[in-house]
Amino acid sequence: MFLENCKVIENRNVAENMFLLVVKADKIIKHTKEGQFFMLEVKKGFNFLRRPISIHYVNKDSCELEFYYEVKGKGTQEIAALKKDDMVNIQGPLGNGFNSEIENKNVVVVGGGMGIAPMKLLIEKLVKKGNKVIFIAGGRTKSHVEIVKNIDLENVQTYITTDDGSAGIKGRVDIALKDVLDKNDISVVYTCGPEKMMECVASISQEKNVRCFMSLEARMACGVKACVGCSIKTKEGMKKVCHDGPVFESTMIVDTHPKENVAGCCGN
Ligand code: FES
Repeated sequence: MFLENCKVIENRNVAENMFLLVVKADKIIKHTKEGQFFMLEVKKGFNFLRRPISIHYVNKDSCELEFYYEVKGKGTQEIAALKKDDMVNIQGPLGNGFNSEIENKNVVVVGGGMGIAPMKLLIEKLVKKGNKVIFIAGGRTKSHVEIVKNIDLENVQTYITTDDGSAGIKGRVDIALKDVLDKNDISVVYTCGPEKMMECVASISQEKNVRCFMSLEARMACGVKACVGCSIKTKEGMKKVCHDGPVFESTMIVDTHPKENVAGCCGN
């Protein structure tokens, strides 16, 4: 894990309340993998706090890290206010990331809303390893799937779904997933997004005996296993999303909101 002061290359509004932050990160870049996250330092009053944001993309040629985030509170408002050439301190990479060592198989990637963002790097890696990737991206409206345009899907069979039908197929990702699992011999499903969506994706995958890896979102105060804010209950005991996750195999998870999980600081 590293701390680096990074220069902002751009911080652009992509859709309503959703921004793409690009920073120059010379030192950290080669240690970063798909599915990990960083804690970004933000100023709050006279204090500095950190907010967890997952990696959208790593451009190793230009040494740039991309983060896609939604403005939900004061912390993310501070990040949205960053301008070109401002400096931001980032801590990471944190977490285990996706296990993407699979090669020459059929795999499905399911992203919902902000959970689409971490899939860019994962899809690139899976395609490079000769896998046939089927990508299902869903959101409430067109703006919730806007970030898909920023993902290279040239060799990827893609389904877009929105609840209101403003982009892609009207409906939810589970309908597309069932169809894909019925018609293809799939080895692994990777998913990230709202909790209910991931539970549904995991349950459909398990019914079809397909392994499913979920990237969990949790309230994170420290991001470095120093508090209990992100604890979940698994078949192997209590685990910390920030350190043991955020990616877990779906069959390992018992309870993502155990009583032992006293509230940490909200990740907004
Ligand atoms: Fe503090 Fe995970 S956020 S232990």
